[in-house]
Amino acid sequence: MVKVLPSVLKVPNDDIQKAIDAVIDVVDGIHYDVMDGKFVPPTTFTIEDFRALRIPIFTDIHLMVDHPEEVILDYAKAGAKLLTIHHEAKQRDVRSTLEQIKKLGCLAGLSIKPRTLVSEVPDDLWEYADVALIMSVEPGWGGQSFISEVLDKVRYLRKKFTYKDINIDGGINDETGLQAVHSGCTMLVSGSYIFTSPDYRQAVERLQHIDE
Ligand code: DX5
Ligand code: ZN
Repeated sequence: MVKVLPSVLKVPNDDIQKAIDAVIDVVDGIHYDVMDGKFVPPTTFTIEDFRALRIPIFTDIHLMVDHPEEVILDYAKAGAKLLTIHHEAKQRDVRSTLEQIKKLGCLAGLSIKPRTLVSEVPDDLWEYADVALIMSVEPGWGGQSFISEVLDKVRYLRKKFTYKDINIDGGINDETGLQAVHSGCTMLVSGSYIFTSPDYRQAVERLQHIDE
């Protein structure tokens, strides 16, 4: 079964807890988008926002920030299980940030934007990361269209790292999700598709069973 992680980015602030509660017992985790207004133009959730939520399941924090090394401790302490950082961020040493994440007892995710080549990240870094996150839209906004060219990166990583979890984020629905899974993804992040559908849970289950 494919792991599905709903992104609550576009859910109105006052409805986020309700949206999480509605899917909590069917999803594989919650994907939480953190943006600093520098790595990407928008600013989103802060650590205080995260602490205020009740998310008693696997939580994936997508750190679209220039200095993830400065915030990972706070998110780990607040209960995050997977911390995903960007290779393009301004942090000085990606490897050491991934190491710190693992030392905190979390899984370490490594992400690249659509225009970053998979070969710009050394193989040993992909190897070291627990999860590879391929962005299939420009990070910063929900509700954009899927960029299908990024599937080449998924195929490349799948061939090279047979057992690695490969996650994909942006424009995932029941068509693009199937393409992603056929290319080698084991995890799907999906925001608009789930939270604009009349039945969130059914949308999650459709994605989980997409290749059956
Ligand atoms: C975009 C975020 C995504 C976004 C996905 O920068 O990283 O997680 O919320 O939303 P959809 O599924 O609407 O593209
Ligand atoms: Zn995201």
